[in-house]
Amino acid sequence: MMAGGEKRTPMAAGIGSEWELGREGFELIRGLARRACGLDLKPGKEALVAARLARRARELGLNGIPAYLERIRREPGGGELVALIDALTTNHTSFQREPRHFDLLRERVLVPAARHGCEVAIWSAGCATGEEPYTILMHAAEVLGEARLASLRLVASDISTRALEVARTGIYSADRVGMLPEVWRRRYLQRGSGACQGYVRVKDTLRRRVEFQRRNLTGSLAGLPHFDVIFCRNVMIYLGRTVQELLVRRLRDRLVPGGWLLIGHSEGLMGIRHGLDYVMPSVYRRPQSGREQP
Ligand SMILES: C[S@@+](CC[C@H](N)C(=O)[O-])C[C@H]1O[C@@H](n2cnc3c(N)ncnc32)[C@H](O)[C@@H]1O
Repeated sequence: MMAGGEKRTPMAAGIGSEWELGREGFELIRGLARRACGLDLKPGKEALVAARLARRARELGLNGIPAYLERIRREPGGGELVALIDALTTNHTSFQREPRHFDLLRERVLVPAARHGCEVAIWSAGCATGEEPYTILMHAAEVLGEARLASLRLVASDISTRALEVARTGIYSADRVGMLPEVWRRRYLQRGSGACQGYVRVKDTLRRRVEFQRRNLTGSLAGLPHFDVIFCRNVMIYLGRTVQELLVRRLRDRLVPGGWLLIGHSEGLMGIRHGLDYVMPSVYRRPQSGREQP
């Protein structure tokens, strides 16, 4: 009830009609997303958020966005939060995306490791539907040889359970693998037949080498080893500034001295105190021990 006993209608609350989000609804979701995983839903994203919530509301058989917001309000930390985050995250990715990073991976990490017989640990942080870690694996298989893939520890994590489901199956529409060389497609993918016509699956020998984990990058990173390379590409653009700064420092602390942090080509660490050495756009290295900055 509002002052004077007036009832607060959905319109007065700024929620609008059945499939509209409204200002108050947007602020509610914005606050939840920020607290849950650092997502920064900037003003201007209202229509996108409304479309995603509408899809989720329909999945649940609810008759509109206000009903969905009501459910979220009733249990803000409840099970629906996982599905809400699934709905709000953007999982766009592709095989061989931003290929310069894979050249660097081969030349600066995999080839020396093969030469010296060293183990390598790599983390695809924010792996979405898996194309990034599988691309890493294919390059590793080329350089190390499939028989020596056991010397590679590859962790791939994301907060989105839906994206991870796809990643774990390793099944993709055949039109998504066109950028892989033909010989790789034959070597590392199985072509579907019958009901699976038009799909490919990453071969078992590769798939079982990836440790997929659901992990919130703003939450605990406990249990992770130190990595030679962290791919955290096209994730930070969705996060607020303070969260970005914190995350970069935490990723730095997960790198071995001299380890590499690769971010998206359109991302930058300008103005962020990170204590990493700049190598080239989107490529940073943890200094060797003794040269660490705060
Ligand atoms: C655009 S995709 C990038 C995929 C891949 N790294 C690439 O560059 O192609 C961004 C991914 O970051 C994930 N993400 C966003 N915020 C996250 C967080 N706080 N913790 C873990 N993953 C997050 C999203 O779920 C999404 O799958």
